[in-house]
Amino acid sequence: MALWVVWVLLAFLYSCQALLIPRVSFAIGSPGRLFTHFNNPGIGNTTTLLLSDDEAMLFVGARDAVISLDVSRPGVMEIRSKLDWSPLSKDLDGCAMKGKKKADCPNFIRVLQFLNSTHMYACGTFAFSPRCIYIDSQTFAPVTGPSGKPDEGRGRCPYDPYQRNTALIVDGELYTGTVADYRGNRPVISRHLSEGSHIDLKLDDTLGWLEEPTFISSTFIPSEEKVYFFFSEVGREYDFIDKFTVSRIAQVCTSDVGGQRTLQRRWTTFAKAQLLCQSENELPYNVLQDIVTLLPPEGVSSDETLFYGIFSSQWSVNSGRSAVCAFRLGDVKAVFSGNYKVLNRDTLRWSTRVQEKVANPGECGLHNASDNTLRFVKENFLADESVHPVSRGLALVSPDQLYSKVAAQRTRGANGKNYTVLFLLTESGFLHKVVLLDKGPHIIEELQVFQQPQSVKNLLLSVKKGVAFVGSSEGVLQVPVSNCSFYWSCAECVLARDPFCAWDPARKVCADVSSIQGDAVQDVEGGNVIDTCKPSTINPKAKLGQPTVVCSPGEQLYVSLNEVVKLQCPEASKLASLHWERPNSRLSQDLYLQPGNGSLQFLATPVTLGHYMCVSVENGFKQTLAIYSVKQRNSGTTTQAVSSTRVPNRPTADTGRGAGSKTKMMAPTTVSKGMGAITPRVTRNLTSVNQPRLTEARQSMDNSSYFEELVVVSVLLALTLCVLMLGAVFTLRQRCRGRTAPQVCPKNDSETGSLQEQDPLTGTAKQNGVVHNGLVQNGLAHGRSPSVKNSSPRASNGYLPNTPM
Ligand SMILES: *[C@@H]1O[C@H](CO)[C@@H](O)[C@H](O)[C@H]1NC(C)=O
Ligand SMILES: *[C@@H]1O[C@H](CO)[C@@H](O)[C@H](O)[C@H]1NC(C)=O
Ligand SMILES: *[C@@H]1O[C@H](CO)[C@@H](O)[C@H](O)[C@H]1NC(C)=O
Ligand SMILES: *[C@@H]1O[C@H](CO)[C@@H](O)[C@H](O)[C@H]1NC(C)=O
Repeated sequence: MALWVVWVLLAFLYSCQALLIPRVSFAIGSPGRLFTHFNNPGIGNTTTLLLSDDEAMLFVGARDAVISLDVSRPGVMEIRSKLDWSPLSKDLDGCAMKGKKKADCPNFIRVLQFLNSTHMYACGTFAFSPRCIYIDSQTFAPVTGPSGKPDEGRGRCPYDPYQRNTALIVDGELYTGTVADYRGNRPVISRHLSEGSHIDLKLDDTLGWLEEPTFISSTFIPSEEKVYFFFSEVGREYDFIDKFTVSRIAQVCTSDVGGQRTLQRRWTTFAKAQLLCQSENELPYNVLQDIVTLLPPEGVSSDETLFYGIFSSQWSVNSGRSAVCAFRLGDVKAVFSGNYKVLNRDTLRWSTRVQEKVANPGECGLHNASDNTLRFVKENFLADESVHPVSRGLALVSPDQLYSKVAAQRTRGANGKNYTVLFLLTESGFLHKVVLLDKGPHIIEELQVFQQPQSVKNLLLSVKKGVAFVGSSEGVLQVPVSNCSFYWSCAECVLARDPFCAWDPARKVCADVSSIQGDAVQDVEGGNVIDTCKPSTINPKAKLGQPTVVCSPGEQLYVSLNEVVKLQCPEASKLASLHWERPNSRLSQDLYLQPGNGSLQFLATPVTLGHYMCVSVENGFKQTLAIYSVKQRNSGTTTQAVSSTRVPNRPTADTGRGAGSKTKMMAPTTVSKGMGAITPRVTRNLTSVNQPRLTEARQSMDNSSYFEELVVVSVLLALTLCVLMLGAVFTLRQRCRGRTAPQVCPKNDSETGSLQEQDPLTGTAKQNGVVHNGLVQNGLAHGRSPSVKNSSPRASNGYLPNTPM
């Protein structure tokens, strides 16, 4: 028994440490977080997204087609033109003859870039025989290049649509990382479309440059005149571990033209280094999944350019988890200008033997260098040091999400400070919006964007428009980066800690920071409502003693004695801790079950009839979310009782749970959707399915043999132990969240004393009084004003307007 307790406590302490959950969760189609779809039966596998400079057009490379979408108006995506580009039937026959699946033989567009001011360049897998074409940006028609026919795509685009690649055009030259053969075992980083004295370049054919790489992305840093490639590969330098995957950053100079005798038509500036995403005492997150570049704020040195990468782990201990690490360009440069490991090309072994440094590998401008220098470069291209993440730590670790795509943005908060916001796409189809703060990451929200996991995923941010574009096997989505109006009060606006949103005291709305003239109320770091939502933001009327109600005026619930009553609290924020209060009495653990999912269960007895309030505490801020008045039914009120089940559902909360991995926190039951409304039939169902303990207890109470009494005692003992365990676990959970949830319900003020049970006529008014007092007592009367409440259709259904739909 003791062992068992220790085990449970340990399990919870572990989950404590791992707790990083989105504050709000929106299921697909939630009215609180709408987005635009572009679906077209002919457009699938949207593998590449490219935004025009003015961000008015989105070009999409898909299966057998390139399309342009007009995205100049918010919330609208209209197809402007479509370029069909599919293999001919003879190409498809050839593909099938080579033994490839028919579904893999179409032309999957894998390269789509602007070539110059008038043309784009596109490459596709083209039935396992890659091709590239020029596209006139104006007419969207294919144009043959200088050769007069489509370019061969070898080395520019993979053959196999499941091979990853990267491509980037800089000054009219195409830099690519891909495999350059049909079987997919000749990886190469190369340059194409070069003209004049600039010639096409690639890696030398000798072994050892790349080891079974998976290319992730590439970026051009103008101040360095370098293109950086990101990929993962087998780390041969760790020859004591079999097939140890490492993540890399590699570089080439755009000025490179190859060597004169040694390294002719080959890179002379190629160098690579390990990207290490690891925290102390932990296995590294070694497999790069995606990485993006975040430019420094204006006026700051380009060394402060950051690369945000998502990493997963090769080891099963860390399976299902992922981490985000940020790397500084300055640190990357320092590693590339340091020492290099030496490759013995005969044994293909790396050593750190320090030989005389003949040259600086990775240095630009080596084309006129001596053969001796170039030979040195050819053997020293793996930097000795690894690139460590900024402040040597992980920016974020997700215990239960495999992130696959990342986008990063810097945004200015109301206080003028810059915040970094990451958008992370999960394998399961959710988009997480995360703000990185000094004291750690905060997941502002999660948004379900796919019904089903997608094999193809893309994420592109348009900072100017404030939207994220998400590409998938099914189409393209346009998701606004925020919906501030979802937060209906100053308190909710501040608690959200969304740097895009602030409370506008003048208009009394939560709005985009940029739209607010004058003082904007925001506290991204602390989310401290009490200090931030100043009394000046309170509607003056509220101060005159009118009720400020944040919740429904009170659900009347008619029950029969000895029925199991289950009350459900609407869930506004997953970071809030919910508890139940009764005027005048404590909820004794003997009578009430609080399973920690926001619900309250008890047997209806004369003692338990009366008023119940669900109170949420988030970040030290307390508000009442729901009030129930439980009354005894007499035969005439049956219809009323049934009608009380009409309480609006909150579909999101449910779907969010189903799709996410938070099921452990909730115990959805058939009744929980109905928000605690109880009908006799449902109750019995519930009793038998979900409440065995209460049922047993009750049944046993009805019997009277000694044996039965023994059973009663045992069951009660078990029940008590369970309640104690639940209590302990609940307490732990509260600690985990670092909330300051009071463990004891506060004393009720004198007025509530008159609020006793069964007072149907005056109940509502008094409840309002209670809520009002409750709020004032906690210094929080600045919720919504009565006028706001009345004008809001959402308030009329008696539920929290900010509950996720
Ligand atoms: C923003 O939230 C409000 C309130 O929930 C909702 O009515 C509106 O449709 C939402 N807008 C978007 C674009 O999601
Ligand atoms: C852009 O590239 C295309 C294809 O090489 C070429 O025909 C066209 O003249 C170029 N346009 C400009 C403005 O350089
Ligand atoms: C480098 O070599 C090229 C010819 O390959 C020559 O034109 C150029 O002047 C040389 N540059 C230097 C700095 O020696
Ligand atoms: C294309 O999309 C379909 C689903 O629509 C998916 O099954 C298939 O694997 C995708 N193909 C590639 C090459 O990603």
